[in-house]
Amino acid sequence: MTLKSVPTRGRTLDHAAGVYDFFEPILLLGKQAEYDKRIISVLELDGSNRVLDLGCGTGVLTRSIADRLNEGGNAVGIDAAAKMIGVARRKRAAENCRFEVMAAESLVFEDASFDAVVSSLFFHHVPLDLKEKSLAEAFRVLRPGGRLVIADMHVPTTWMGALVSHVSRWFFMQPQIGENIRGVLPGVIEKAGFTPPEIVATYFGYISLFDTWRPEA
Ligand SMILES: C[S@@+](CC[C@H](N)C(=O)[O-])C[C@H]1O[C@@H](n2cnc3c(N)ncnc32)[C@H](O)[C@@H]1O
Repeated sequence: MTLKSVPTRGRTLDHAAGVYDFFEPILLLGKQAEYDKRIISVLELDGSNRVLDLGCGTGVLTRSIADRLNEGGNAVGIDAAAKMIGVARRKRAAENCRFEVMAAESLVFEDASFDAVVSSLFFHHVPLDLKEKSLAEAFRVLRPGGRLVIADMHVPTTWMGALVSHVSRWFFMQPQIGENIRGVLPGVIEKAGFTPPEIVATYFGYISLFDTWRPEA
């Protein structure tokens, strides 16, 4: 069955699906495994957790998460780009790992159906109102007391990070990156109802790792 991308004003990457796994490790300067490992350590997974990965791309992080779960747990990766999901599904190795074409701003999952939500390099692909809607959706599908971990572009912490961020914003003609580097993420995360996000790591001077929670009811 042919997968169809879903409509969104987010910057989707159907056109890059075939080369994404070649270029991403280069963009992450060969540190992708270390980067994913750190995100996963912040999640403090229990083997039975249900985990949602927003804007999963080809599903590298989703699969690494699934590898740490037992049969009771599962990892679900969603992406609005059908070709990204097509690549992710072809590479799927685990039963407890699935991939769906879906927009982060309109999730089809039940309320409180996940123990953790994670996202890597997705939020700089959507405009501010979709950042807000995606976070509202993440809040809705996360159980009270569940964790949200986001790695994404944020206020640069080094001159090299500032250079990379600003060049990317103009090269990709992506004002959504401009919002991130102006520092909108912590405010929109809190506005969605999450606890004030803590920055627990930074990478390459332009990516921050945010750790936050849906408060207990
Ligand atoms: C830079 S990639 C990140 C992929 C992966 N998480 C990673 O860390 O490599 C951003 C992804 O967000 C997806 N995307 C853009 N807008 C979206 C939306 N509204 N809902 C879901 N995914 C979206 C793109 O198709 C793309 O695969």
